Amino acid sequence: MKFIDEVDLKGKTVFIRVDFNVPLDRNRNITDDTRIRAVLPTINYCLEGSAKVILASHLGRPKGQRIEEFSLAPVARRLAYRLHKKVRFAPDCIGPEVDKLKKKLKGGDVLLLENLRFYPGEEKNDPEFAKELMKGVDIYVDDAFAVAHRAHASVEAVTHFAPSCVAGFLMRDEVHYFHKSMEEPARPLVAIIGGAKISGKLTALVNLLKHVDKLIIGGAMANTFLKAMGYNVGKSLVDDTLLGTAKDLMAAAISKEIKFYLPVDCVVADRLEKQAETKITPVQEVPQDWMIVDIGPATVTLFGEALQNAKTIIWNGPMGAFEYDAFGRGTMAMVHKVAESYALTIVGGGDTDVAVHKAGEFQRFSYVSTGGGAFLELLEGKKLPGIAALENWAKKNGHD
Ligand code: 3PG
Repeated sequence: MKFIDEVDLKGKTVFIRVDFNVPLDRNRNITDDTRIRAVLPTINYCLEGSAKVILASHLGRPKGQRIEEFSLAPVARRLAYRLHKKVRFAPDCIGPEVDKLKKKLKGGDVLLLENLRFYPGEEKNDPEFAKELMKGVDIYVDDAFAVAHRAHASVEAVTHFAPSCVAGFLMRDEVHYFHKSMEEPARPLVAIIGGAKISGKLTALVNLLKHVDKLIIGGAMANTFLKAMGYNVGKSLVDDTLLGTAKDLMAAAISKEIKFYLPVDCVVADRLEKQAETKITPVQEVPQDWMIVDIGPATVTLFGEALQNAKTIIWNGPMGAFEYDAFGRGTMAMVHKVAESYALTIVGGGDTDVAVHKAGEFQRFSYVSTGGGAFLELLEGKKLPGIAALENWAKKNGHD
């Protein structure tokens, strides 16, 4: 694909697709602006290059309807604060009023459009909607890695109408680090996979077996593996329909000589609540009426030892129900273990980034992806429509 620093920006109208799908509290205050900060380098680069900057994003899932609670107005305010400059906020993302605002832009101005998903055309990848978005645009910049797995109009269809299509700096970093960790990794390559359900990670696990040297499984999804091995896991969350699949995965890993790690002890609770009774137990001794909610200290030591010689670590999914502080110690301990390693460390998806921030270790990771679903789809070995669209444009226009 072609990148933003390969084009002349001066006086050009640049449309940057960003992912400002940030979490908001009940009063519509932004609770985490990581995704806004992540695209500042691209926006500032365009501003320094005297481009006229138009920013477009979705927020939430308003399903093609104009619903005020999904307005990007709070983002416009936070963006102005982060950029230290005025951000004009358009009341819509297409239409005559937006066209007027676009025409009024001067080099160094910023215009944020209203939520793209207020129009059904966005999710339908509608060419007419894409054409409207690209009105008056000289350069389309895709810096929205987190939505690159969606073939939506502002991600895919627009690339058929924009005169020039390039990737921004965030997109470049995301692709670069993923490539470095999965396609050309320094070995041993260790994957740590956690989270609640094995069903959502099955394709990723199968694909990982083609790449990794070691596979560490934590989180509630480990319960299914433990049960498949014949352990009694009490009331723990288990995908009973996937016990056979779990067995097959373990056998496949072993036959490929991949080192496969499961928890050896766990934190169990009598219920999934803040006030629950908890205790630490070997996986062989989970009480019948209790449930596994976190990995235990012996497992942290075991997993830590497995990471000792790692040269590359890729991590998706927490080790327990870390949204409850009482059940978050295993995940926090693993964040520190990974941060302390001498490996290239990549984290993405499944709230793992939240755990890294919570543990205060963000700076010590090589790369923390902004992608949730997009990162998981890369782990699954899929080609993301957003990335394919940029590559196709480059190919068609002789920028291979
Ligand atoms: C995300 O938060 O993962 C992206 O913004 C994509 O959002 P979506 O799952 O609603 O398409």
